[in-house]
Amino acid sequence: MNVLLTGGTGYIGSHAAVCLLQAGHNIAIIDNLSNSQELVAGRIENITQKKAPLIVGDICDTNLLIQTIQEHRIDAIMHFAGLKAVGESNAIPISYYINNVQGTLSILNAMDQTGVSTMVFSSSATVYGEPQYLPIDEHHPTSATNPYGRSKLHIEEILSDVAKSDKKWSFICLRYFNPVGAHHSMQLGEQPNGVPNNLMPYIAQVAHGIRAQLSIFGNDYLTTDGTGVRDYIHVMDLAEGHLCALDYAHQHPGWHAINLGTGTGHSVLEMVTAFASASGMEIPYQFEPRRSGDVASCYAKTDKANKLLQWSAKRSLESMCTSTWAWQTGEFSQK
Ligand code: NAD
Ligand code: WQD
Repeated sequence: MNVLLTGGTGYIGSHAAVCLLQAGHNIAIIDNLSNSQELVAGRIENITQKKAPLIVGDICDTNLLIQTIQEHRIDAIMHFAGLKAVGESNAIPISYYINNVQGTLSILNAMDQTGVSTMVFSSSATVYGEPQYLPIDEHHPTSATNPYGRSKLHIEEILSDVAKSDKKWSFICLRYFNPVGAHHSMQLGEQPNGVPNNLMPYIAQVAHGIRAQLSIFGNDYLTTDGTGVRDYIHVMDLAEGHLCALDYAHQHPGWHAINLGTGTGHSVLEMVTAFASASGMEIPYQFEPRRSGDVASCYAKTDKANKLLQWSAKRSLESMCTSTWAWQTGEFSQK
């Protein structure tokens, strides 16, 4: 298939691009480079020895999308582009709704005008809000506590409405849990801007001596060791899940929401121990009060992905840590 990746030079999109090319698909990428670099497309080509044409532009530009879809004879869209920082979304909600919701409407408009009807969308476990039971399955009620999460919910709802309007539409909303890790080539990985918000890149920078110590937000949760528990998933497992979702979407029109996680939760302290062991470095930390908006535990029920997509996460916590460490200390990540 010919697949257009929006946000394809970003963290998750770039790994998915490699999987798609290695599986024999053709791709084109559209990205405004607001949180990524042009040279990522070259790295995707280095790894795969295949073409990864990058169109630098914004998903809100419907005409550019139409032109790109026609030029590259696109059959399906993988929609990664968007803003993703929860804290920032409280400060600049309008940008979040423009980039995420309006951007998606622009893509849908372009799809409608060009006859493309399949999209795999990057949703998030954040749409489940405060977990009411664990593990979280796809029937769990949805809610939002910040503009980022609400933008994902709005998009899911819009896609659901559009799917109901005509049987041709095929949308898969992949609800990612906590993606971590990097490509084994060390050429692709997560490149946070400034101080990382997320745990894994923060730990990696502490191990590397870039930051003095990790602040662990809360040690009084009702979890095995008092620290927060999450479902960390290797980004390459996640990327492979997209390939399976693309096949499924092609054969099963309609609207589907599917969790992508491992089904296993790990605490912050377990992550620190695993990373120290993988890197051979000490990770100094101190306990701090809980971070506002955090929940004690969140992990996925993965039966739906196992059954419908014939997919399950395979890579270990050790592999998540070693690949992050290799990326962090390698020549391609910019510190
Ligand atoms: P990322 O920031 O690395 O990648 C997003 C890419 O989209 C970037 O390259 C950015 O430049 C581009 N982009 C943003 N707005 C754009 C626009 N208007 N037009 C064109 N390009 C635009 O983020 P990521 O971690 O790869 O996340 C990809 C998707 O997955 C996002 O939609 C995110 O919300 C979702 N997601 C991420 C996580 C996570 O923890 N990383 C978890 C759940 C869901
Ligand atoms: C994990 C655990 C923290 C940093 C976020 C978004 C979510 C999704 C993924 C996009 C928690 C603890 C963290 C630190 C810490 N993104 N922590 N010290 O909060 O589960 O999810 O990213 O959709 O929407 O909310 O991930 O990596 O920030 O935190 O102790 O410096 O690590 O309290 O328990 P989170 P995270």
